[in-house]
Amino acid sequence: MKDFRNRVAAITGAGSGMGRALAVQLAQAGCHVAMCDRDEAGLAQTLADVRRVAPDVRATIACVDVADRAAVHAWADAVARDHGRVNLIFNNAGVALSSTVEGMGYDDLEWILGINFWGVVHGTKAFLPYLKASGEGHVVNTSSVFGLFAQPGMGAYNASKYAVRGFTESLRQELDLMQCGVSATTVHPGGIKTNIARSSRVSPSVNGLLVRDAQQGREEFEKFFITSADKAARVILAGVRANKRRVLIGPDAYAADAMARLLPAAYQSLVVREARRKRKQLVPDAAAAPARTGDAA
Ligand SMILES: NC(=O)c1ccc[n+]([C@@H]2O[C@H](COP(=O)([O-])OP(=O)(O)OC[C@H]3O[C@@H](n4cnc5c(N)ncnc54)[C@H](O)[C@@H]3O)[C@@H](O)[C@H]2O)c1
Repeated sequence: MKDFRNRVAAITGAGSGMGRALAVQLAQAGCHVAMCDRDEAGLAQTLADVRRVAPDVRATIACVDVADRAAVHAWADAVARDHGRVNLIFNNAGVALSSTVEGMGYDDLEWILGINFWGVVHGTKAFLPYLKASGEGHVVNTSSVFGLFAQPGMGAYNASKYAVRGFTESLRQELDLMQCGVSATTVHPGGIKTNIARSSRVSPSVNGLLVRDAQQGREEFEKFFITSADKAARVILAGVRANKRRVLIGPDAYAADAMARLLPAAYQSLVVREARRKRKQLVPDAAAAPARTGDAA
């Protein structure tokens, strides 16, 4: 899709971060926007931002939990009814969890997969018929740099983001075969300055292994946030205009992609070595922890 003017875009997780930046930039480009989030105050702020920069576009909001299948399908029907058509769905809503696999409760695992994976599936399936009916559509699913490589303490997040990648790459190939006027892009942001660390869940299982405590874990997470949400949204929209299959955001995402390609299994030893080095700084008492892990690739 070369031009967003007079198209209709639906955006999940529009109440903060990249979702908000996407809504504002799409509206500035003359695109009508339908926004959802479970955070009503955040949504109201985004709506005000959109109205300020683009008073003439049609903008609607809905409080929707993307993990709720019926709610997402009802929202898609409402967007198509209220806006007359839908051209783009940005399945952007997401959350983070820091926990070892051993220390992970099934409730936390179900929570993160419900939002990060099932939320993307719900948004894709609910909007796809409308995108096809529009004659010119695009599905934009947000994975992560953690859909390209894995890290200790990120097993659930990794699982959700690798799943989004596989799901969306397969979808793109199906759409290419169908030649139905709809395309799909997978987005892999590196560290982006948003609220995601503040809203993340941190399990005590990472204390002493990776960080000192939850507060320090969130602070360390935020140190990797090097790209603004505005810049990220610009890169995503340029990727959609160019009909890219994969969009990487930030130099860290390019570095991670190169590492995963060059050392598809051996990169894990590098990550473990770096995690040990970091732990010595952050948790000096843990220096005596076991030095060997299963490095065999
Ligand atoms: N910030 C980063 O460094 C980074 C890196 C890679 C990928 N991502 C991904 O980018 C996407 C956007 O995140 P962000 O960084 O802008 O974070 P953010 O926390 O600023 O925004 C995420 C939004 O999603 C909403 N949300 C969470 N659960 C929801 C649910 N069940 N239903 C509806 N809305 C829900 C939140 O309320 C919030 O408004 C996420 O999928 C995230 O995993 C972020």
